[in-house]
Amino acid sequence: MQIFTHKKDLQEYLRKWFSGNTIGFVPTMGALHAGHLSLIEQSKKKCGVTVCSIFVNPTQFNDPADLAKYSRPIENDIQLLEQAGCDIVYNPDTNDVYDGEPSIIQIDLGGLDKVFEGAQRPGHFDGVVSVVKKLFEAVKPTDVFFGQKDYQQTLVVRKMIRQEDMSIKFYTCPTTREADGLAMSSRNARLTIEERAQATNIYKVLKQAALKQGLYTPTQVEEYMHTELKKNSLMQIEYASIVDPTDLKPIIDWQHGAVILVAVKMPSTRLIDNVVL
Ligand code: PAF
Repeated sequence: MQIFTHKKDLQEYLRKWFSGNTIGFVPTMGALHAGHLSLIEQSKKKCGVTVCSIFVNPTQFNDPADLAKYSRPIENDIQLLEQAGCDIVYNPDTNDVYDGEPSIIQIDLGGLDKVFEGAQRPGHFDGVVSVVKKLFEAVKPTDVFFGQKDYQQTLVVRKMIRQEDMSIKFYTCPTTREADGLAMSSRNARLTIEERAQATNIYKVLKQAALKQGLYTPTQVEEYMHTELKKNSLMQIEYASIVDPTDLKPIIDWQHGAVILVAVKMPSTRLIDNVVL
């Protein structure tokens, strides 16, 4: 596995050894877990060469404390990527990614960036598209792999690819879960024992809600989710909503599919999850 900290060296290496190959790309912020490794596995299946980036992007954190707390176990990450058979790691600093000071680009995301995560974390998706565009320009992937856990992020990045006319195939890969159903996330490590015990209920409620599709209206199922999630004393519900899976707008019936989105704040971290119907 080759590790690069400068994009010009990465590009030279790809040109020299992998020209004509499909390039699969998995962008990450490190603190890797089995969910990330499943994206590497998908990329390896589909592409001639797999590149993973590890870069904690400051521009997508609206809360400086969250950025400061973000874990950076780089040696362990590199070991995991090596074991997973990743070909190339791009582990740049801010200067290499942004060609200087971090900057924000404006892309019309059609309002997808203003709701749910965008409303809870103002500016978050501006930072995400800014860094993802820079990373795509650095790696020049043919195929990119993102996890469904960040459902709204998958819609936002797809939209950016269309808006910017990029010729990139986008794959949304299934959420990897702990044995009790909790969606894997780098933030789970921050949960206390009590919080972790309650966190398991997020996916339980999502699954129960999914079973009610067609039997109740989306609004009734949202009410059900609120009632159930409120039973967890350490959870503050940010949203528990059932919306159109393509534009995240409210739905009144189940005819055109749905995605159930949940975000909760716990004392030590916030967690998100979803189920697509
Ligand atoms: O999902 C993430 O880890 C980040 O938002 C991403 C896509 C790597 C951009 O920093």
